[in-house]
Amino acid sequence: MSKRHGKHGSKQEWSSGIGFIIACVGSAVGLGNLWKFPYITYENGGGAFVFIYLLAILVVGFPIILGEMIIGRHGHANIFGTFKSLSKDHPFWKGLGIFLISVGALILSFYSVVAGWTLEYFIKSLSGELGGLTVATVGKHFGSFVGNGWKQVFYHTLFMGFTAFIILKGTRRIEQAVKILMPVLFVLIFVIMGISLYNFGAGQSLSFLFDFDFSKLTSHSVLEAVGHAFFTLSLGMGIMIIYGSYLPKKIHVVRAGLWIVFFDTFIALMACMMMYPIIFGTNMEVKESAAMLFTTLTVQFNALPGGGFISAGFYMLVAFAALSSTISLLEPVVSYISEEWRMSRKKATALGAGVIWLLGVGCALSNGASEFFTKLGVMDKLDYFTSNWGLTVGGILISIFAGWILTKQATSSELEYEQSSLSYRGWLFCVRYLSPLFVLIVILYKLNLF
Ligand code: PHE
Repeated sequence: MSKRHGKHGSKQEWSSGIGFIIACVGSAVGLGNLWKFPYITYENGGGAFVFIYLLAILVVGFPIILGEMIIGRHGHANIFGTFKSLSKDHPFWKGLGIFLISVGALILSFYSVVAGWTLEYFIKSLSGELGGLTVATVGKHFGSFVGNGWKQVFYHTLFMGFTAFIILKGTRRIEQAVKILMPVLFVLIFVIMGISLYNFGAGQSLSFLFDFDFSKLTSHSVLEAVGHAFFTLSLGMGIMIIYGSYLPKKIHVVRAGLWIVFFDTFIALMACMMMYPIIFGTNMEVKESAAMLFTTLTVQFNALPGGGFISAGFYMLVAFAALSSTISLLEPVVSYISEEWRMSRKKATALGAGVIWLLGVGCALSNGASEFFTKLGVMDKLDYFTSNWGLTVGGILISIFAGWILTKQATSSELEYEQSSLSYRGWLFCVRYLSPLFVLIVILYKLNLF
């Protein structure tokens, strides 16, 4: 994406189709795949949870990702402006625009805290401080790190600073960086996964992931699986609307969507296969399962020659993956403020990032550093409500908008399908009925309404 022109920004476009796909993959692949998916899958008992997650990706994630992209390309503005113009100023849809932007801001506030952890682990890998940790001590080490208020706020601030800087400088640089770093991350994950499997075998991990034992499912885990499908694809808060709004007409939306879904799902599953063998093979206690990314691998790296460097390289790449997600979380806020409140991009960035930073401080202190915030459980609650409720409700409404409010003429021409074709009718059926219904059933199930 190039920098916006003019004071309040006329529209910009992606440099190419590949550039767009890379930016979307950059947004989708992040802490959701490497940090969150392995630990919530572990917490929710594996197989059946994975099944619901994959089903949600297929019947909800894919159709809605296309829906968001075409709403964006059609509206060609910030999220609020898009709903405003496409709904002819309808207050409900304008309200949805504000809702989506707020959910993104809330997600960014805790996401940036976790992203900050990767910076500490990068530095400590280089200084050798992680070197002596064992299966028995990694957990405690992590606990005392997240309980250190100053460090938590410092790294959160650093990460928000990087994010704001890139948003200000124009994201073309990130597009270029992601183009190189994503493949490197991919290769490194592959290698680390290979080492884990070589050392500990795949058997137990595979059966944990793919034995579909439905008796383990609770209404909580079903909602969490569906919520995570949205989270990991960056759906339900309009990111693909804003990225789609920079999309030139000549790019095929369906192909782009397929790539994004494929990469994202593949990396999430690989992340599990990188960490689970260590847990099962060493009988590691994962009480602090949210810490999985920062405990299992440390032990693994320590057993390797030159482990400190591999570890540093790994956490740096994770930090990059997180950065390409955080910029996609901040962009909707900034483009809204600058376009709708007629502020310069600089001021809009300072205002948006400042408010989100402040919220994040509450999250940063809620993992043991401050008794007050820890008791409130600010970070966990924000994660729970935004991912599971905010994104799913946002997603249903976006789906309805794409299916019912946009005309068939508009959607079929954006998708480049004939209205009578099977692909078009399949997509329309999903966004009109199947996807909203699927999510609605999950929500009603969670609310114990049947
Ligand atoms: N999809 C990102 C991830 O998996 C997180 C994210 C969520 C980014 C919502 C943008 C919007 O890490």
